[in-house]
Amino acid sequence: MTEGRLWGARFEDAPDAAAWRLGRSVESDHRLWAEDLAGSRAHADELARVGLLEPTDHAAILSGLEAIAGELAEGRFPWQDTDEDLHGAIERRLIELRGDAGGRLRAGRSRNDQIAADLRAWCAEATSRLIGRLRVLQAALVDQAEEHVATLCPGYTHLQRAQPTTLAQHLLAHAWGLDRDAQRLADARGRMLAASPLGAGALAGSTLGLDPARYAEALGYDGVAANAMDAVADRDFAVELVSAGATLAVHVSRLAEEIVLWASQEFGWARVGDAFSTGSSIMPQKRNPDVAELARGKTGRVIGDVVALLTTLKALPLTYNRDLQEDKPPVFDAVDSLELVLPAMSGTVRSLEFDRDRMAASAGGGAALATDLAEALVGGGWPFRAAHEQIGELVTALEQQGRTLDDADPDEIAERLGHLDAEAVAELLDAAKAAQRRDISLGPAPEQVRAQLAALRQRLEGAHD
Ligand code: ARG
Repeated sequence: MTEGRLWGARFEDAPDAAAWRLGRSVESDHRLWAEDLAGSRAHADELARVGLLEPTDHAAILSGLEAIAGELAEGRFPWQDTDEDLHGAIERRLIELRGDAGGRLRAGRSRNDQIAADLRAWCAEATSRLIGRLRVLQAALVDQAEEHVATLCPGYTHLQRAQPTTLAQHLLAHAWGLDRDAQRLADARGRMLAASPLGAGALAGSTLGLDPARYAEALGYDGVAANAMDAVADRDFAVELVSAGATLAVHVSRLAEEIVLWASQEFGWARVGDAFSTGSSIMPQKRNPDVAELARGKTGRVIGDVVALLTTLKALPLTYNRDLQEDKPPVFDAVDSLELVLPAMSGTVRSLEFDRDRMAASAGGGAALATDLAEALVGGGWPFRAAHEQIGELVTALEQQGRTLDDADPDEIAERLGHLDAEAVAELLDAAKAAQRRDISLGPAPEQVRAQLAALRQRLEGAHD
């Protein structure tokens, strides 16, 4: 009678061993125990309120749940092979500890609304944790950027040197992506907490006078789901968390990829700290940016988790179907992956030591200032098309001599162009001045980047409220 299986009276045969193994979900849903117990407390209170639990049974159930919480928290809960899922295990244990009173708690509810509520509440918590960890990574980028407002580097398109920028501007580009991730997650969290599914029962509520609004209030929701069928079938909240998580993981992978490039001998921009690097078992000289590579690698899993979850949900008829048991592993995997990656990447970013001279030396390299020359001609009244052609020809002519714009003599360029004096050309070919010239709100001019830094700092401070 005290098996951790909440059904069976109408069956003659015990479950087949293979069927049981397939259906048993404690290995993943045990992680929802705190949320499940909170829901059970609220349910016990509600049953007592409508007169379906005597005060003594109510008290026995609450103290039993308390004892079970202690066992679970300390890892001494006696799980049994006969526990089908978390809900069955807890009811079984409650009856072991408090006798028949424990058998009264199931009235008016179903595992369908229970699991929907448990996972929803877990996701809301996990979302807050992810936002916190993401803000730490963002702060690491902002702190590094602060040090490098004047550090010049090439900006790339197609991984070809394009125009000079600053390292601060480059690092903050990553910080803004993370900012959108934080917004997306916070927005998703708002929807998670907007609609408590408890009281929906299996799919149609109960006849016992239980009030869904009281569950919502007890568990910190802002409101109640509008429709019981939707309440038990909806897993949008999980999709939103995992897909916002996948976007976040993709952002982190782009940063990670750049760190791998920067740490290469070819780029030679940055050195990753010892604590975030690994060596090779055969090549003594190696210093590998494994953390960044793993962050990049974990992204594939998180993207896979979105696909797994959506595929589970696709075309499921309303309302609850056992397929939904497969919703939890991808949610846990996505959150676990990000919780591993984000702190390791925060540390990696903080550990980076940049080679300012090397970066600055290449900032204006490879004709990266060709656009500036062309724009100067436009300032002098030229049509851009003609200016573009003229500078293009100049670059080609220099290339034929094995030279580039940056090693050409300003006098020579002035002479060839005939429209700018040597002093103006020298200024146009100065990468630091090129960054300063882009003195517009979104540009790399140091003052503008300082404004970005201030805006991001404000968001980071707001994040701790
Ligand atoms: N273990 C199930 C899950 O994770 C709980 C809900 C089971 N409901 C049911 N009607 N069999 O989805």
